[in-house]
Amino acid sequence: MSTFDMHAWSQAHLRSIEQALQGWVPPQAPAQLGEAMRYAVLDGGKRLRPLLVLASMEACSPQPTAWTLDAAMRAACAIELIHAYSLVHDDMPCMDNDVLRRGKPTVHVQFGEAQALLAGDALQTLAFELLTPEHSNIPAAVQARLCGLLARAAGHAGMAGGQAIDLASVGQRLSADALRQMHRCKTGALLEVSVVMGAVAAQAPDATVQHVLHYGQALGVAFQVVDDILDVTADAAALGKTVGKDAANDKPTYVSLLGLDGARAEASRLADQAQQALGQSGLKNTAALEAVADWVLQRQN
Ligand code: IPE
Ligand code: IPE
Ligand code: MG
Ligand code: MG
Ligand code: MG
Repeated sequence: MSTFDMHAWSQAHLRSIEQALQGWVPPQAPAQLGEAMRYAVLDGGKRLRPLLVLASMEACSPQPTAWTLDAAMRAACAIELIHAYSLVHDDMPCMDNDVLRRGKPTVHVQFGEAQALLAGDALQTLAFELLTPEHSNIPAAVQARLCGLLARAAGHAGMAGGQAIDLASVGQRLSADALRQMHRCKTGALLEVSVVMGAVAAQAPDATVQHVLHYGQALGVAFQVVDDILDVTADAAALGKTVGKDAANDKPTYVSLLGLDGARAEASRLADQAQQALGQSGLKNTAALEAVADWVLQRQN
């Protein structure tokens, strides 16, 4: 029987992540920009992507060196900054036009549209600053690889590209393949790269990186399928964001394509696929990655 305590594991790691983000997101940026950045990142968010980075690093390197720990925490915070920036822009009137995020008014509601645009821009570049510290023992090649991975996941072939597909798909009925591709880009890419960065920080061999990539690919789409479901089934207080937005904006989702039961079955199939990828990886220390996959399926917010 497993003795792994996911609650204790995640509480300990969440404390370190919050502390690192508090230290790295600057309050002193000019003209309220720092306030908008901190508002977007701190006090809220499940921190799934940072937890995935750390879980993957631990799976790949049960006894990490000091620089591996440093690289993993930097990658964990960098991915959260990219994610937070994507949410700030996703909520703007030109995109999903949302007023509630993480239980608070969205950044553009609180600080204005121009400041929201800039906060997103500055969070994005801060992510790459974190990955390239001026003085550190993280090998330059590892820093460069982490930057390249994160850039590709966030850019035209990943999150930004997926968001473009999302906007271009309003009012359309997508095929299952097209919908999976959209979800894989807009949401999956950042989850995939989270586990890959954890493995790279741990200097895992390429074959191992491929296994965790397969886990991340399945989990990433599962996560957005569940997001589609919660948009229909959850209430705003639990979710911390407006519900019913996808139907109101006429977005194609797994619920509109397959219905609620079909979407639930698809999420469960994808989560099983993620667990299978871990089983095939040969890694021993996968309890946290397994527990995260369970939680993605059962989450209520
Ligand atoms: C919301 O992501 C946006 C999607 C990609 C579905 P999360 O559900 O991880 O949002 P936070 O970070 O917990 O607020
Ligand atoms: C978000 O998808 C994907 C991003 C890249 C931010 P959604 O638009 O469904 O996310 P929520 O529901 O607003 O969090
Ligand atoms: Mg959106
Ligand atoms: Mg949205
Ligand atoms: Mg959504």
